[in-house]
Amino acid sequence: MSAQESTLITGISELVTNDGEPVTNDGQPGGFAALTDAALVIADGTVAWTGPASRAPAADTVVEVSGRAVLPGFADSHAHLVFAGERSAEFAARMAGRPYRAGGILVTVQATRAAPDVVLRANLRRLAAEMLRQGTTTFECKSGYGLTVPDEARGLALAAEVTPEVTYLGAHVVPPEFAADPAGYVDLVCGPMLAACAPSARWVDVFCEDGAFGADEAAAVLAAGRAAGLGARVHANQLGPGPGVRVAAEAGAASADHCTFLTDADVDALTSTPVVATLLPGAEFGTRQPFPDARRLLDAGATVALATDCNPGSSFTSSMPFCIALAVREMGMTTEEAVWAATAGGARALRRTDIGHLGPGARAALILLDAPSHAYLAYRPGVPQVAAVWQAGRLVAGSLP
Ligand code: NIG
Ligand code: FE
Repeated sequence: MSAQESTLITGISELVTNDGEPVTNDGQPGGFAALTDAALVIADGTVAWTGPASRAPAADTVVEVSGRAVLPGFADSHAHLVFAGERSAEFAARMAGRPYRAGGILVTVQATRAAPDVVLRANLRRLAAEMLRQGTTTFECKSGYGLTVPDEARGLALAAEVTPEVTYLGAHVVPPEFAADPAGYVDLVCGPMLAACAPSARWVDVFCEDGAFGADEAAAVLAAGRAAGLGARVHANQLGPGPGVRVAAEAGAASADHCTFLTDADVDALTSTPVVATLLPGAEFGTRQPFPDARRLLDAGATVALATDCNPGSSFTSSMPFCIALAVREMGMTTEEAVWAATAGGARALRRTDIGHLGPGARAALILLDAPSHAYLAYRPGVPQVAAVWQAGRLVAGSLP
C-alpha cells in the first residue's frame, strides 16, 4: 500500500478514540471516549475519519474486523532498554524475601560498559520489537547504565536509532569510581557528560531517591538539562517518601514517575501543576512493593499515565497490557482509566498531541484487539490479544483477520 492510499477499517465493535470531554487538571480535551459499531479511515498516515460503520466513506482498501476493538497504540513513556545482561537471580532472591535496593543498577552498569555496540543494539531492537508486537507504537528510552561520558553518549545514540523519545539519565546512580566524590559525579553529569549527550536526547531524567540523588542534586541536574534544551522527567518517590515529586513540580517536569509513596502535599503538587503522575506497576510487581494508589491521584484530579519501566532490574516487562491489568486489579483504576493512562496519558507524559487518541488528524498509530472491547486487556490478563498494529498508517505487526 502506498502512503497515499486510504484504508477503511470497519466492523469495529468498540473504537477507543480518546476525544471525549476533558478529564484532567490540564483542561485539555481528550478524555476517554469510544464508539460502538464504528469505522475508521486512514489516509496519508493519519486518521482521516471516524464514525458509525453504517456511514463509512469509500476507501482504496477495506479491512473488515468483525466485532473486534480498535484502540490507539500504547505510549510507553518510561523504559530503560539500553543495557546488557540480566538479573533474574536478583528477582528470584526478592521473591524469596530480599528487599530491592538501587545498588543492583550497578550490576547492569558493569555488563553494559563491557558490551560491544552490536550486543547493545541487538538487545534494544529485540525489546523494541517485543513492545511493538504487544501494541506499543511510541516508547521512551533512557540511558543510565553507562555512567561515563562515552558510555552514556553511546547509549543515547543507540536509543535515538529506534525512538525520538530519548532520555539522558546520567543521574541514575553514582558509579563506583565516584563513590568518594558524589558531588564530582553530579558536576560531570551537569557538565561534560551533558554536553556529549544532549545532542541525542529530548529529555533529562534523575533518580531522586535515598541511595541515588537528593533534592538539590536532582534540581541541579534538571536545571543543567533544561539549559541544554532538554525537557525534565524525574524518578520520584519510588522506594519511600521523598522530595522527588516536589523537585519535579518546581522544575516544570513533564512527568514524575513511580509516585508510589506520596504525601498529601505531593498529591497537591501533582494536581496543581501540569506534571503527569506516571505509574509503573511492573516495578511494584517486580520488587514486591505496595502498588501506587492511582485512585487517590485520579480522585484528586491528577493526570495519570501508565508505563512499563522496562529494565532488567526492577521491572523486566515490555507489556503495556500487563501494566493495564495490574492497574485495574491492584491500583483502583477502571478499565477506561487504565487504557486512557496507557495511551493518552503516556502521550501527555511525553508532551505529544499527535498520539494517544484517534480523532481525525491523529497519527494513525493503532491496534486491533482479538477481543470485542478494551476491557478484555484486564479481563483476560496474560493472554496475547493484540492482533495487529498500524504505525503511520501501515500494518507493522500481527495480521488481519
Ligand atoms: O525505574 N528507579 C530507578 N531505575 C529503575 C531500576 C533500574 C534497575 O534496577 O536496574 C526503575 O525502577
Ligand atoms: Fe525507571
